[in-house]
Amino acid sequence: MRKVTVVGAGQVGSTTAMRLAERGMANVALIDTCGDLAQGKALDIAQSLPLTDSTSTVTGGGDYGLAAGSDVVVITAGFPREPGMSRSDLLGRNAAVVREVVRAIEVEAPGCVLIVVTNPLDEMTHLAWRITGWDRHRVMGMAGLLDGSRLAHFAAGELRVPPGRVKPMVLGGHGDAMLPLARFTTVDGAPLSERLPAVKLRELEDRTREGGAEVVSLLKKGSAYYAPSACVARMVTAILEDEDYEVAASVRLQGEYGIDGVFLGVPVILGRGGWSKVVELPLIPPEIECLRESSRLIKERTDELDRWLEDHSS
Ligand code: LAC
Repeated sequence: MRKVTVVGAGQVGSTTAMRLAERGMANVALIDTCGDLAQGKALDIAQSLPLTDSTSTVTGGGDYGLAAGSDVVVITAGFPREPGMSRSDLLGRNAAVVREVVRAIEVEAPGCVLIVVTNPLDEMTHLAWRITGWDRHRVMGMAGLLDGSRLAHFAAGELRVPPGRVKPMVLGGHGDAMLPLARFTTVDGAPLSERLPAVKLRELEDRTREGGAEVVSLLKKGSAYYAPSACVARMVTAILEDEDYEVAASVRLQGEYGIDGVFLGVPVILGRGGWSKVVELPLIPPEIECLRESSRLIKERTDELDRWLEDHSS
């Protein structure tokens, strides 16, 4: 059986491990350096599996050796947002965490596909790629699917249709410069922009942009995890099943959309070994400008991260 490792046994990590184990597609390792947390969560998840048809095994602990030979590794380790914080407020704190994890994964699972979930998402994905130096197709961040899932939920509520009938499209950074695209979001195949008035579309797009913060402010402690873990599990499935699934993910652009050397959310084709190509949508000038603005903001912060990496290279 294939193997998936989830690093970080907080809410996002453990819920992801549970969803993957329930699907029975892979053996799952859950790693967290905080005491016996991962071992306890893995044991609890494993004890839920006799009620399912899953034949997955679930192991957990603090030793990165548990990741050995993984096909896919998901990094969720790091600090979540608290009310009033932006995702970029986590940059310094989470860079050190992600660096430690990536260095260990490089050794234990050198052939894996890496999915980064730790915030700030685009910047942490860049950091993971930069440390590994791997082919860009093997390193990606999970965000566009989550932002899209939020848009689909809001749009479905407005139109009173089941949410699965909305196929969303959200590009850009996983933050304030996110670009929800009603023109490329479809409901039963028709553009969402033809189903709702412009003013309502703006409302849905704004609520999508603030979707993560809305959950953070309600939870009071920690950030969202049911929707994020569902999105990670969906991406892992696409990789393990070699689906060629079109999904928005944060990937390193090299000229696509006229952007070079920046991790940004765009639609890609996902299958075995990672993503194979960027899907270039026919964007109009204000949309392209928004993507470029998004990429400028991310680049400023990744330049800062590159300098930090050089200063702490030992
Ligand atoms: C969110 C966090 C995971 O959007 O970034 O909920």
